[in-house]
Amino acid sequence: MCGIVGYVGDGQATPFLLEGLTKLEYRGYDSAGIAVYDGKSIRVEKSVGRLVSLKEKIAGNEPSGMVGIGHTRWATHGRPSDLNAHPHTDCTGDFVVVHNGIIENYMALKEDLIKKGHVFKSETDTEVIAHMMEELYNGDFEATVRDVLNRIDGSYSLVFMSRRDPDRLICTKQDNPLVIGLGEGENFIASDIPAIISRTRRTYILNDGEIAVIRKDSVWVTNREGEPITKKVFEVNWNAEAAEKGGYEHFMLKEIHEQPKAVRDTMSARLAKDDSAVVLDELKWNEDFLNSFHKIFIVACGTAYHAGLVGKYYIERLARIPVECDIASEFRYRSPIIDDCTLTIVISQSGETIDTLAALKEAKRLGSKTLAVTNVVGSSIAREADQVIYTWAGPEIAVASTKAYTTQLIVMFMLALYMAGIRRTLPAARIHELIGKLRQIPAQISETLEDVEPIKTFAKVYGFNEDVFFIGRSLDYDVALEGSLKLKEISYIHAEAYAAGELKHGTLALIVEGIPVIALATQKSVYEKTLSNIKEVKARDAVVIGIAAANDTELEKYVDHVIKVPETDELLIPLLTVVPLQLLAYYAAITRGSDVDKPRNLAKSVTVE
Ligand code: M6R
Repeated sequence: MCGIVGYVGDGQATPFLLEGLTKLEYRGYDSAGIAVYDGKSIRVEKSVGRLVSLKEKIAGNEPSGMVGIGHTRWATHGRPSDLNAHPHTDCTGDFVVVHNGIIENYMALKEDLIKKGHVFKSETDTEVIAHMMEELYNGDFEATVRDVLNRIDGSYSLVFMSRRDPDRLICTKQDNPLVIGLGEGENFIASDIPAIISRTRRTYILNDGEIAVIRKDSVWVTNREGEPITKKVFEVNWNAEAAEKGGYEHFMLKEIHEQPKAVRDTMSARLAKDDSAVVLDELKWNEDFLNSFHKIFIVACGTAYHAGLVGKYYIERLARIPVECDIASEFRYRSPIIDDCTLTIVISQSGETIDTLAALKEAKRLGSKTLAVTNVVGSSIAREADQVIYTWAGPEIAVASTKAYTTQLIVMFMLALYMAGIRRTLPAARIHELIGKLRQIPAQISETLEDVEPIKTFAKVYGFNEDVFFIGRSLDYDVALEGSLKLKEISYIHAEAYAAGELKHGTLALIVEGIPVIALATQKSVYEKTLSNIKEVKARDAVVIGIAAANDTELEKYVDHVIKVPETDELLIPLLTVVPLQLLAYYAAITRGSDVDKPRNLAKSVTVE
């Protein structure tokens, strides 16, 4: 989850490195550093804190040179500090490396290197790699990199730089992303596309185990055995502006407002013109294929897991196949009962979340068919799964996921309808009706976004409370979980989501006078019961903000405030009720002065277990 950049070319490296790191800072931001070859030696500059600290440190004395690497860190081994910041060097300063991931066997390697006289400066796992380069160097940079790679275990993307071979960078990856940007007389390396998109759209996406030797006018890719690989150029089809803030104060707010478009893009080409069916050309499933599954697993982390919970509801309700939804980091350690009669669906915005990737690999190993729902074309998860459905949300930069969630719900809904069509578990008229309602969702999200003033007021009034509860039943509970995660993640308010009926089994003890409770009440079958639960918290003098559909005239009688969203089918209403919760989290974070796009301790893409 760190950010990596590299440059080899005719131009100065430092401006690209700093520009690229700025774009990647969302991946980690507790320290940053760059290394540039100046014609004689490799100058390394690093600083704890945000990238701006590094920029201030080198202002007026920027490293000069045409080959360089850079890194922005999210600490795993060793606290954030100047010394633990990357790049890391060997004892001589001839070998420099940046790394994203974890070297699992670094302790044994480190002990061995120390015995051989190497002196370590940092607490990181990464530094062993630089010292191994020094120890094993045999006059051949590339061969030494291979030798090092054969001795390390773990997950990584790595870029190597050598003073002895200063015309090239070598990079490789295992379970972590890395792309190579192809320029004219210059080439780029980055852990994510936003870092290079202002320079080139032509990229090679590196696969696990591939090793690339990058000079200013060539990129040579081989496998671990040294056999050449012909890479296909992947043209990035989104522009630099899509990865910028576009006038919004924060990426999160921009991405919240991009939801109508993201949702429309994700669904439009996949709905039959006459609304008779969902058309998922990427799957081409048939009844026999679907009937071969006795169970579906949905596996994901964080917000994507919350989308999975809604997906479970959709598939069970519409397609009538049993579904288990699990947190990826739990899934593979609980010995799930998986065989070739199961389908495992993993959901991941980034397509790089290591827990989700590992769960996917485990499901495959046990014989499950696999499907990935992801936003990033060519990501590790997209490549590992048997089949992929992409959410067309565009780049999501803010750590707090918003448009990824709504597009994931759209995909899960379409998938459930698609399955229902094949299995004939739903009348054609109902499919037609639901697709019609689905088409209205983008405009209804826009409408919901317009009603922001009351939310800003609530955020100001209640934003300094230290505890907030979210309650709901059925799909409302799933959305409550997402609203609560969003609030705690960026405003640092302690927020808990409870199935409304479960409150009285313990949590009600925490409800005291003035505590804000956000109550979602949109699901008809449990509406009366939710009202009873709302009365229970009101009786303890909680302040209740209700979330209801526009045609609801009942809820306002029992709560202190109501936020209404446009009327739609109750299956689709999570796509609308989540929007005020996203905005509430955003404005509460603003009220409290937290760093919305880069909340403390977190990073956008979690590529460590
Ligand atoms: O990239 P992924 O969808 O796999 O990420 C999963 C979670 O890390 C992510 O949703 C996280 O919970 C977000 N920061 C929540 O806003």
